[in-house]
Amino acid sequence: MSDGEEDSDHLIFGGVDVVDLGARYGTPLYVTDEDRIRENFRSYKNTFETVDTDFYFAVKANGNLAILRILAQEGAGADVFSGGELRLVKLAGIPMDKVLFNGNSKSEEELRAAVESQVKVSVDSREELRTLSAVAVEMGGEAEIAIRVNPDVSPKVNPKIATGLRTSKFGIPYDEILQTYEEAAKLPNIVIKGIHCHIGSQILDISVFREATEKMMQLVEDLYERGIELEFVDLGGGLGIAYNKEKEIAPTPEDLAEMILPTFEAKMQALGINLKLILEPGRSIVGSASILLSKVNTVKHAHKNFVAIDAGFNLFLRPVMYDAYHEVVVANKLNEEASVLSTVVGPVCESGDIIAKDRMLPEVKRGDFVAILDTGAYGFSMSSQYNGRPRCAEVLVRDGAVDLIRSKESVEDVIRNQVVPERLR
Ligand code: LLP
Repeated sequence: MSDGEEDSDHLIFGGVDVVDLGARYGTPLYVTDEDRIRENFRSYKNTFETVDTDFYFAVKANGNLAILRILAQEGAGADVFSGGELRLVKLAGIPMDKVLFNGNSKSEEELRAAVESQVKVSVDSREELRTLSAVAVEMGGEAEIAIRVNPDVSPKVNPKIATGLRTSKFGIPYDEILQTYEEAAKLPNIVIKGIHCHIGSQILDISVFREATEKMMQLVEDLYERGIELEFVDLGGGLGIAYNKEKEIAPTPEDLAEMILPTFEAKMQALGINLKLILEPGRSIVGSASILLSKVNTVKHAHKNFVAIDAGFNLFLRPVMYDAYHEVVVANKLNEEASVLSTVVGPVCESGDIIAKDRMLPEVKRGDFVAILDTGAYGFSMSSQYNGRPRCAEVLVRDGAVDLIRSKESVEDVIRNQVVPERLR
């Protein structure tokens, strides 16, 4: 246990000694710093103060209810991508008039849930538009929509998380947008409200946001000329964060505003209209706010010096899925010299289960704590029960205080919904 002194060798996160957390809650453990989330969100709010802007948190990045509650308190709306995420934001108290239901493959059930909850729908295909209209007619309701535009802009990121390329599965091709709106205007129970795009994620070269804004505002003008007036423009999320502090510099919401606002405001002025701006940040709100705390099960000096921890791609997929870099620290040896070239691996039965390759770390022993940093976005939300491992707990820290925000699963939870037919018993 730490003595809380300044020269402690222990990682302090949100005012809490994470080694104490590991001892109290066990590992693996997601630890989230509440103040960091509030600061990140406020930095968007303060920056875009001069324009009418709403921030729809991308729930896929982190769907923990307590975290959504914090964001609801801060005034966030939500980008939801499934009926499940819609349910989550309702439970968190995010107002339904600040929710956009996204998705390239929504089921009819999900379209019904959207109409029933009176949330806006981002329409991803012409067929979906017609289905939504039919669903709304049948339900005697209305569907407020935006059309998801494929703007054909390259965000210069890992192809797996580029979403606005011409070849991407998302959105309606740029040159079909006007005719899609014209069709929407004629369809019963469809109410046109806005226009939407999202070009990609973990964007560090943010000049692409200017290109996207220009293309989207051109569509706003073309629609206006055809008598179709909008209430909002949603430019999606995507602002990157610095995972590798030595190599990357995180663009800030101010940098983003500089890319978007001049074009956005100039076009509004030229047309004499007022539009709401919507942004859908996920990663830049929650990414830096969590660590994944793990314990070392074994150290093996083999072909490499393998440090095997109790968290792998079952709990944190990003390194494996995107070759993503995440800093790791030995949380109980912060001041020890990083003298050993180490490769941190998880417990999953796959050779690819590597969390951090060839890093200089202090000499590590069984029982030491390893913290993976910046795991708040697409961390727990992409976890699985692979290898029969229950998902871990999550705690929220603030100013030295700790709250459990998700209990760990048990093996029973892994088994719970499985059914062995009578004939096999
Ligand atoms: N809006 C839409 C429509 C989206 O599809 C996304 C992310 C966002 C907003 C939020 O983007 P952000 O601000 O977080 O970049 N699992 C990947 C990222 C997938 C992003 C999917 N869409 C990762 O771990 O890098």
